[in-house]
Amino acid sequence: MSVLNIALSKGRIFDETLPLFAAAGIEPLESPQSSRKLILPSNRDDVQFLIVRASDVPTYVQHGGAHLGVVGKDVLMEHGGDGLVEPLDLHIAKCRLMVAGFPNTNLNGAQRLRVATKYANCARAHFANHARQVEIIKLYGSMELAPLVGLCDLIVDVVDSGATLAANGLEPLEHIADISSRIVVNRAALKTNNSQISELLTKLDAAVQQTIAQS
Ligand code: ATP
Ligand code: PRP
Repeated sequence: MSVLNIALSKGRIFDETLPLFAAAGIEPLESPQSSRKLILPSNRDDVQFLIVRASDVPTYVQHGGAHLGVVGKDVLMEHGGDGLVEPLDLHIAKCRLMVAGFPNTNLNGAQRLRVATKYANCARAHFANHARQVEIIKLYGSMELAPLVGLCDLIVDVVDSGATLAANGLEPLEHIADISSRIVVNRAALKTNNSQISELLTKLDAAVQQTIAQS
């Protein structure tokens, strides 16, 4: 029996995924909050968790560093999904990928707008679909700051309550995609570890359906 490696990020995704894995009978023996270990054993000998940065989950799974992972659809869209299968929507960490900026920004004016984002591929595709010329400025966080200091005209970022935008005098301007976290599986692992992965997916799916029914 081989050990199934599950990649996920600490923080929001780890916290929201935990109850679903618990309902599927899998619990980490340590928490990433209290442990500096990056491989966390579970109560099952055949499952362990790998703690990686959210944006690195698709890369670990694509290249077989993990058999499967939990990742936001935003990160998955930005990665492109090469070598990955996306069998299950966990309905957690829900938010929207949005274009945002100052109120009354004219998105359809003649000038080429500057767009700051960590979602460079998604942003490029979105504006190309709308036949708008933009300059993409790649950032890794705190996107809401960029328009305030004149770095850009618009940002592309995830929005939940809208509180971060509002606190910085910005507002959502255009919807790109609804986001939730997904299970992604390495395409080859789907064959080599088929029974382990199928069993896990069936249990997680049941846990997701139960959570939805209760909410
Ligand atoms: P990285 O460290 O790789 O930049 P991150 O800081 O974006 O990642 P998290 O903030 O933990 O990582 O977000 C993980 C995922 O949770 C995101 O990819 C997105 O799908 C979702 N998410 C992000 N912000 C929110 C939010 N405010 N409300 C709900 N879901 C969110
Ligand atoms: C995310 C995102 C926004 C904020 C949106 O940041 O980058 O800044 O949430 O949520 P809201 O609409 O409810 O305000 P997060 O809090 O995850 O911090 P991060 O910059 O560390 O990702």
